[in-house]
Amino acid sequence: MLQGKRIVLGVTGSVAAYKTAWLLRRLVDAGVETQVAMSASATRFMTPMTFQTLSGKPVFTDLWDARVDNHMPHITLSRAADAILVAPASAHFLARVAQGLADDLLSALVLARQCPLLVAPAMNRQMWENPATRRNVACLAADGVVILGPDAGAQACGEEGEGRMLEPDDLFAALTAFFTPRRLRGRRVLLTAGPTFEAIDPVRGLTNLSSGRMGYAVARAAADAGAEVTLVSGPVARAVPWGVRRVSVCSALEMHAAVMERATDVDVFIGVAAVADYRPAHAAGQKIKKDAETLRTLSLVPNPDILAEVAALPDPPLCVGFAAESENLEAHAQAKRRRKNLPLIVGNLIQEGFGGDENHVVLFDEAGAHPLPPADKVTLARQLIEHIAQLLEPEQTA
Ligand code: C5P
Repeated sequence: MLQGKRIVLGVTGSVAAYKTAWLLRRLVDAGVETQVAMSASATRFMTPMTFQTLSGKPVFTDLWDARVDNHMPHITLSRAADAILVAPASAHFLARVAQGLADDLLSALVLARQCPLLVAPAMNRQMWENPATRRNVACLAADGVVILGPDAGAQACGEEGEGRMLEPDDLFAALTAFFTPRRLRGRRVLLTAGPTFEAIDPVRGLTNLSSGRMGYAVARAAADAGAEVTLVSGPVARAVPWGVRRVSVCSALEMHAAVMERATDVDVFIGVAAVADYRPAHAAGQKIKKDAETLRTLSLVPNPDILAEVAALPDPPLCVGFAAESENLEAHAQAKRRRKNLPLIVGNLIQEGFGGDENHVVLFDEAGAHPLPPADKVTLARQLIEHIAQLLEPEQTA
């Protein structure tokens, strides 16, 4: 989504400026043409040389910079941008932009822009809560400025509260979302992801090797496309994608309950989780001794098929399944799709995708097979979301 985009990355005076170096690394890696402009106080926290080295371009700090041919860097830089992102945006900077002041390069560049402006506020919690800042932020939002964050948590000053700049990875995700077409705007999407863990006793259980990567990537792609996303996740150690609500569960029964509680209220349900087919008939309350017969011969009972149950609701959401197969992908995936009564199933051969970052998948629907080129899971997730958007609104397909 970001490849080839031209971003002016503005940096103002806050200690959070050190995190912007990592954001810049990520932007450059993603193929974003990034031009850094710093306020004078930003240069007290980070040197222009740091950003110049990372971006491979000279950093601008001065309204009167003679390196720009027409001596108008504020015009030249803002005209060349697809968006301006100011991170961190200090309280003082937000106040100046709200007032339309243009007494340094960054504020002049922002005032002269023809492109969207995104700001990531960073300041002490008291400064953030101050009525003057509240007024300025409300004013900026009303002017169409996109306000990213801030987060709550520990602050550099030792206090705790709202005002931390969003983490660089979250800012990267927010910027990606900003440039993603809003194909699912106003839609509610419910997903499952990860493995389930079926307790045998308080320390043992049955589970599988699902990493949750694909489910989390689909959740992120849906959120980027403008959907309101709830992710019912089995036990995996993954960061919740920006803008996604996670409901953490452990067993298939917990996942089932969490899904059924919400399934009547959504437009799309995507079952990405690798749900255990069976669970121990009885989970022991105490740790079972290793020579106990119950451990040697586990008695199992089937888990509910969450996806099939959602698809069988009287007025079901658009249901999408995953079929990990080891052979005869098309035959097995299409049979599973029909058995579970799904409009769409995503098939993949397990030797090519399980647990890794890359995947090779084929989408199967009523119209047949739609193979996607092998790609990383984030890219595939975006293509899946696009296909779902087309199924929801076929008239937009052309
Ligand atoms: O039947 P099978 O497990 O191969 O089907 C896989 C699809 O069904 C996946 O989308 C998975 O998330 C979903 N599923 C489910 N509940 C189960 C088993 C599978 O939702 N108990």
